[in-house]
Amino acid sequence: MAEARAPGKAILFGEHAVVYGHPAVAVAIEAGVNVAVSNNKEWAVEGRPLDSVRHPHLKSIISRMRRGSGPFSFQISSTLFSAAGQGSSAALSVAAHLALRSHIGESSNLIDAARSAHLAEAYAQSGRASPTDTATSALGGCVVVSSSLPPMAKHVFGSELETSEGLRTWDVGTIELPIDSDPPYLVLGFTGNPSKTGKMVAMVADLISSNSERKSDLDSIGEITAVGLVALASAEWEAVGMAMDACHDRLEALNLSTPFLEKLISSVRPYSLGSKLTGAGGGGCMMALTRDPERVAQMIELHGARAMISSFYNEGAQVLI
Ligand code: PMV
Repeated sequence: MAEARAPGKAILFGEHAVVYGHPAVAVAIEAGVNVAVSNNKEWAVEGRPLDSVRHPHLKSIISRMRRGSGPFSFQISSTLFSAAGQGSSAALSVAAHLALRSHIGESSNLIDAARSAHLAEAYAQSGRASPTDTATSALGGCVVVSSSLPPMAKHVFGSELETSEGLRTWDVGTIELPIDSDPPYLVLGFTGNPSKTGKMVAMVADLISSNSERKSDLDSIGEITAVGLVALASAEWEAVGMAMDACHDRLEALNLSTPFLEKLISSVRPYSLGSKLTGAGGGGCMMALTRDPERVAQMIELHGARAMISSFYNEGAQVLI
């Protein structure tokens, strides 16, 4: 048997715009997904035959294994909210890749895991996916994904994907967050309404093809992200929060927010440095950057959503056994 763990992520800035080559910045969160792999008579997930419609990510990860490997059984456990914009499918894919490779004794590394998981996300999302979630889950810490990386990012690997809108290329880098003796916390609030990333990405694609003015919102997100990144790299947390608020306004203009997300976001603003929807939108999660995480979590729960507090500095994926 082999087991691997990969963290979920929260996008601080740049979701959706990153699909079009603008930068996105994400951090690994404390919660994540564990995947254990063991020998079995047939391919199975949680004791049931593997259904490739229900588990497209696993199907894609398996397709890149050495021919003739398996069949294996997967046991999955997650502390992430699912379909919530916390990158649970990316974490599942990264952990499954590492656990499978470890189980068959094939060497692999975090970059291979990130690449394979990105292909799995693209396969499950009708060809449109940026490497943000998968790279953050694999590498941990703070990750920047962009068509051209800003100078403060350390380049880790390049990534490309053939999409129906043409070839997309990204560079993936990491940002060394400055050591701060008193960093703020992230609080995620799950609306309880699952959000389908592929559907939301397709909705934005339709919106900008029918109304080219909306493309300027994606360009603005790119500019806000660049400013937010400078603030983040120097631990200017107030400015990070302001960039998060500004990013949210543009995401809302792209019809990605919902009345419930708006209610949650405005309820935590008095206790936060910044707050926004995070991930695909249309439901899923919002998040706040705050020095008062307990109060923010309380506000989120008072409004009927589920809260999760996370620190900033978290490890990437690892093989456990
Ligand atoms: O998987 P989510 O819900 O965190 O969304 C990912 C972010 C998007 O930019 C909307 C899509 C992508 O592939 O980058």
